[in-house]
Amino acid sequence: MRIVIGVGAGIAAYKVCDLVRRLSESGHEIRVIPTPESVRFVGTATWEALSGHPVSTSPWDDVPSVPHVRIGQQADLIVVAPATADLLARSAAGLAPDLLGNVLLTARCPVLFAPAMHTEMWLHPATVANVATLRARGAIVLEPASGRLTGSDSGPGRLPEPAELAAVVARVLARGGLPPDLAGRRVVVSAGGTREEIDPVRFIGNWSSGRQGYAVAAAAAARGADVTLVAANTALPDPAGVRVVRVTSAADLREAMLPLAQAADAVVMAAAVADYRPAVRSAAKLKKTGGAPAPISLAENPDILRELAGPLRRPGQVIVGFGAETSDLLANGAAKLAAKGCDLLVVNQVGDGLAFGTADNAAEILAADGERVSVPRGPKENLADVIWDLIAVRLT
Ligand code: CTP
Repeated sequence: MRIVIGVGAGIAAYKVCDLVRRLSESGHEIRVIPTPESVRFVGTATWEALSGHPVSTSPWDDVPSVPHVRIGQQADLIVVAPATADLLARSAAGLAPDLLGNVLLTARCPVLFAPAMHTEMWLHPATVANVATLRARGAIVLEPASGRLTGSDSGPGRLPEPAELAAVVARVLARGGLPPDLAGRRVVVSAGGTREEIDPVRFIGNWSSGRQGYAVAAAAAARGADVTLVAANTALPDPAGVRVVRVTSAADLREAMLPLAQAADAVVMAAAVADYRPAVRSAAKLKKTGGAPAPISLAENPDILRELAGPLRRPGQVIVGFGAETSDLLANGAAKLAAKGCDLLVVNQVGDGLAFGTADNAAEILAADGERVSVPRGPKENLADVIWDLIAVRLT
């Protein structure tokens, strides 16, 4: 595939060297188009060596081959990384002061922006408006990662790690040029398994690794959505372009999900939520007393999915639940779909090495409108895309 990498003038340009190397090694043909200011950070010689192609910042080089039109027309994907606040503003306004600006105007392929900047710039109303404009136009604008920024600051604004960016690029390309059908949509996904503390060292938990929920979140980001992932006790790398909120217990998960869901077009509850918690969390470690252990009395947790799909549902929202079953998938799934009141229920068989922690999954997806889709065993990424196909038609 022909991928154009547009490089903005941010310090994170150095991370893009690794991205270019990864994408070239995957067999893609890479053209790097830096902005003139960005070569203060990484010079053209580096981009030429990594991509194996001459590099220019200006439409006035090699004029007979009309590069400002040809490169954009021939591209299968344009990735702008780091997309600085200034570059996002210029792109939103359709300005073309350099070769990259021209290429962005002539391209008709998917365009993926990976913003990186200081938190203040990312949260500035001008940047927020520019990102909204680009998304409304069908561009994929990834959420920046959170963490240490240049200097001593930290917050949202980091360029996602090159391996994670390369994974998004692979997912966008796998869609074969289809437009990002979730651009402009805001979605919330929960993942992982909650832990209910017994005392400071012990908890009641489950085997969910979060892989399916992470795949659902990553798929939505690659389809252009603004994604928040509420992750309960996972040990997976943050997917590029996804805002990650970490929680521990069912109560934490509920507190995070409720306000996020209020502002979302779609909610996917992939997390394995504990139905019960210890009625009392002991402040001190419980001691072995000898003799029969004292029973742990339990209290019921609120059913978050049922709340989101019922009293808290916003008109037009699509709410998706998961059903973890060890037997009678269809009968249990149908009963759970009705009991929860969600639009789609993804029923998967769990236990005996199935679903929890694996790379593969199989599922029956049941819809409240009667549709039923069987997804054969395959990568969790595939199931994630089928789920979003079913959500996307229900959103329109
Ligand atoms: N769920 C939830 N809040 C809970 C329990 C579950 O939001 N307190 C959600 C899960 O995120 C999932 C769906 O409900 O999307 C079904 O979870 P599952 O554990 O399969 O079902 P339960 O409702 O717990 O029913 P059971 O344990 O009886 O099968």
